[in-house]
Amino acid sequence: MRLRTKFLLSLVVVTASLTCATLLVVRQTAGLHAVQEVRSDALNTLHTFRVIQHEHQIALARRADLLATLAMMRSGDASTVNETGEDPWQSDEFDLMVLADSNGQIVALHSTIPAFPRAAAQYSLRRSLSQKATSGWWYSGSRLYQVALQPFYEGDDQSHPLGTVVVGRGVESAVQGLAPSHSSRVLFRYDQKFLASSLSPSGEQSLARQIGKELFTEKIKLDDDVFLAASDKLSSDGSVSITVLKSYTESSRYLRNLNWLLGGLGLLAVIGGGLLGFIVSDRFTRPLDSLVEGVRAFERGDSSYPLTLGAPDEVGLVTEAFDRMRRTLDKNAEQKQELENQLRQAHKMEALGRLAGGVAHDFNNVLTVIKGHSDILMDRLPESASLRASASQIEKAASRAAALTRQLLAFCRMQVLQPKVLDLNSLITDACSLLKKLVREDISFTFQPGSPLSTVRVDPNQIEQILMNLTVNACDAMPKGGQLTVSTRNVTVEEKFARARSPMKPGEYVLLSVSDTGHGMDGNTKARIFEPFFTTKEQGRGTGLGLATVYGIVKQSGGCIWVESQPGKGSCFEVYLPAVNSPADQQSTEKSPESRSENAEVVLIVEDEDEVRALASEFVSSAGYRVLTARDGKEALEVAGKSKEPIDVLLTDVVMPNIRGPEMAKRLKGLLPELRVIYISGYVEHGAENEELADAFFLQKPFSRASLVEKVHEALHSPRPLATPII
Ligand SMILES: Nc1ncnc2c1ncn2[C@@H]1O[C@H](COP(=O)(O)OP(=O)(O)OP(=O)(O)O)[C@@H](O)[C@H]1O
Ligand SMILES: [Mg+2]
Repeated sequence: MRLRTKFLLSLVVVTASLTCATLLVVRQTAGLHAVQEVRSDALNTLHTFRVIQHEHQIALARRADLLATLAMMRSGDASTVNETGEDPWQSDEFDLMVLADSNGQIVALHSTIPAFPRAAAQYSLRRSLSQKATSGWWYSGSRLYQVALQPFYEGDDQSHPLGTVVVGRGVESAVQGLAPSHSSRVLFRYDQKFLASSLSPSGEQSLARQIGKELFTEKIKLDDDVFLAASDKLSSDGSVSITVLKSYTESSRYLRNLNWLLGGLGLLAVIGGGLLGFIVSDRFTRPLDSLVEGVRAFERGDSSYPLTLGAPDEVGLVTEAFDRMRRTLDKNAEQKQELENQLRQAHKMEALGRLAGGVAHDFNNVLTVIKGHSDILMDRLPESASLRASASQIEKAASRAAALTRQLLAFCRMQVLQPKVLDLNSLITDACSLLKKLVREDISFTFQPGSPLSTVRVDPNQIEQILMNLTVNACDAMPKGGQLTVSTRNVTVEEKFARARSPMKPGEYVLLSVSDTGHGMDGNTKARIFEPFFTTKEQGRGTGLGLATVYGIVKQSGGCIWVESQPGKGSCFEVYLPAVNSPADQQSTEKSPESRSENAEVVLIVEDEDEVRALASEFVSSAGYRVLTARDGKEALEVAGKSKEPIDVLLTDVVMPNIRGPEMAKRLKGLLPELRVIYISGYVEHGAENEELADAFFLQKPFSRASLVEKVHEALHSPRPLATPII
């Protein structure tokens, strides 16, 4: 059930029950009030009757007194009554006048119609006289009279009455006006008999049965009507009583009307409450509805469902929190997607790198042999020999192939770097003359060195390579000229910034950026630029290895590279290199070594490839050194052990069967602490022994005669290697 329905239902239920309870209380109170009113009405009627009766009694007593005086004066003559009775002035208020002698025998009787039977009068008189009453109630058989009795005497003798005078009045006149409506009735009862009642005989019987001794009797059902009865005795013996009946009909009609009114009001209250509840719930639940819809849409994967924001209440706060959460989740999902893409890309590059590295390794050995022998040919062929040109072509082709292999190795980070701690500004300033040669005249080249700038630990040759590749690319991107800017500055990478550029780590960096105002790149191109052999240039113009090399060098140097570019808005390549807190290494001022040894030092050459070993041996011995050779590490140890002269230089491959180069070098150094080690390798595997490579010299395959002899000379004459190779 929806919240709004629940709210509405509960509001209607609450309104309805409250209204019903109120109406019940009102109705109950009104009912009680109505009963109370009927009761006090009846009591008032009784009371009024009592007052009237009392007044009548006084009037009757006064009249009886006058009549008694008259009768006394006429010595009890019956004419007293007859004359007075016929005199309208004296008898109009009275219905009965009786004169009785001293024996209580009626001598004269005057009554208005209907006539009062003399026998009944005689009976009533006897009863009154026996009770010595001065007032009382006489019943004629059809009417009830209120009477006053007054004896009269002869002279002042009060002991023997001469007779008695009775004056009476029918009770109808007393109750006139007491029961003005149909809803109330006044009944008289004489000796268990109701007088002149309008009730049916069964109604009278029922009334007689139900009236109790109490003043009030409630809920008496008579002739299809319900009454309240208030009864009172009129005579002391209880033979005469008055009963006032008050009908409930009017009050029940009033109550019925009240019921209808209250019912109507209740209905109105429920409808009004429901309507109000609907408006209120609609107002309050609409933002909630929108939130629920938003949540549902979010569950379906739609995070753009428009939410009602900005309300200052709790729902508004929750909606805003949900919106924030939605945006964060969206951003996280985007970041996750981006990271996944990066990871996929990294895996792809890794696989490509491994493949390229494997090819490059074998290729280097082949190239070493080709290049070496072309060197020998060039050396030994006379200047005039026609084959010299061919040898030179072979040498050039081998050099080009070696450069390509180096690029491949750089991309797959298998190149052995020889890093130095240096100031990037001075390195770029030195490289500027070379770079300017690459930049066409229609492009303005600017270098903006950042100051102060931290030092970085990089291979200077590789940084030059990066600068060259990026510069060439920028120039190619600006065929109609433009602006090329190279700049450096210190950057502190915060946690948040690093997280967005995973796998970058927070810390201090030196930023080298190369930006151009060229044609820029679209998203698809941008996503693939670091892949080897990806190029958008026409056939023969680009190999697609430029940025792959840059990527490999930067990664191998512990840095990161990012590119910002949009079609038509130029590109900016940012290379982050970790800052180092040590001063720059001193540049070697040593002169180029002599290519010939004078002291005939001993060089042990260890290489598993026969052709390469033979070539290296040929080069070194031709430079005047004495040469020992070994096929692998094990043999090298044996050779060293048998050698009568101490070995000065160990020239060894890194990756060899049985014992690896660094391990073997370590053991030999244990025997010959002065031993200088030169590693010759086309590449270094990831995870290779960095420690063993420290304090050693490095010669890149494929080597030439000159480079090999130069390296041996350097090893013999330098106090320590200029740079420790890193992988
Ligand atoms: N500054 C730049 N502006 C626009 N596009 C560029 C920029 N630098 C590189 N690219 C795009 O990246 C591609 C790959 O560049 P990369 O340097 O790896 O290879 P290349 O320049 O095509 O060939 P080469 O091996 O000769 O360098 C380019 O073909 C070009 O589409
Ligand atoms: Mg390029």
